[in-house]
Amino acid sequence: MNESFNIRQFRPDDIKQVVSINQRALPENYPDQFFMGLHYHAPKAFFVAEYEGEVIGYIMCRIERGISGFGRMPVKKGHIVSVAVLHTMRNKGVGTALITAGMEGMKSYGASEFFLEVRKTNEEAIGVYEKLGYSVRRVLRGYYRDGEDAYLMIKKDESSQEEGLADDGPD
Ligand SMILES: CC(C)(COP(=O)(O)OP(=O)(O)OC[C@H]1O[C@@H](n2cnc3c(N)ncnc32)[C@H](O)[C@@H]1OP(=O)(O)O)[C@@H](O)C(=O)NCCC(=O)NCCS
Repeated sequence: MNESFNIRQFRPDDIKQVVSINQRALPENYPDQFFMGLHYHAPKAFFVAEYEGEVIGYIMCRIERGISGFGRMPVKKGHIVSVAVLHTMRNKGVGTALITAGMEGMKSYGASEFFLEVRKTNEEAIGVYEKLGYSVRRVLRGYYRDGEDAYLMIKKDESSQEEGLADDGPD
C-alpha cells in the first residue's frame, strides 16, 4: 500500500473530506473556518493523504512562538493541531507519512521543535508519535472537554542549530 497512497498539500476544495474525516475519527471537531484559518496560516504544513483519488487522512499544524532553554531563547515551535486517518486505512503507514510531512512543512517555517497534545488513553497515536521520536513532557490534567487528561509530547528537530538550547515545553 505504501506506493499507492500519496501525500500532498491541502487544497481548499479538500475541506469537506477533511472535515468529514475529522468528525469520524476524533471527538475534537472544528468548523470549516478553523481548518481554513490554519491553511491560511501555514499552507506548507497542512497535508492530505490520497488513495485512489479520495482523501483518506490529513494533518494540520500551527507555528507558535515560545521561549525555550536555559537562555530563555525565542524559538518557533511547530504544533500538530490535528491528524487523522480513515479507520479502514490505518496501520498502513499513512499516519507516519502525514506526520513526517507535517514536520518537514513546519521546519520550512523555521520550527526547531514540535509538540502536540494526545489523550492519555490513545495508545495508537502515542505509539506512532513515540516511533517518530516524540516523548511525553508532561500531563495536562483535565485538558479535554470530557475531563480526560492529555499528554504533552515533544520532539526536537535534530538538524536544528538550536539543539541543546530548546529543552523546555511550549510556553
Ligand atoms: C493516530 C493515527 C493518525 C495513526 O495513523 P495510521 O495511519 O494508523 O499510522 P501508521 O500506520 O503510520 O502507524 C501505526 C502504528 O501504530 C502502531 N499501533 C497500532 N495500534 C497500537 C497500539 N494499541 N499501541 C501501540 N502502537 C499501536 C502500529 O503498530 C503502527 O506501528 P508500525 O508502523 O511500527 O507497525 C490514526 O490511528 C488515527 O487517525 N487515529 C484517530 C485520530 C487520532 O487519534 N489522532 C491523533 C490525535 S493526537
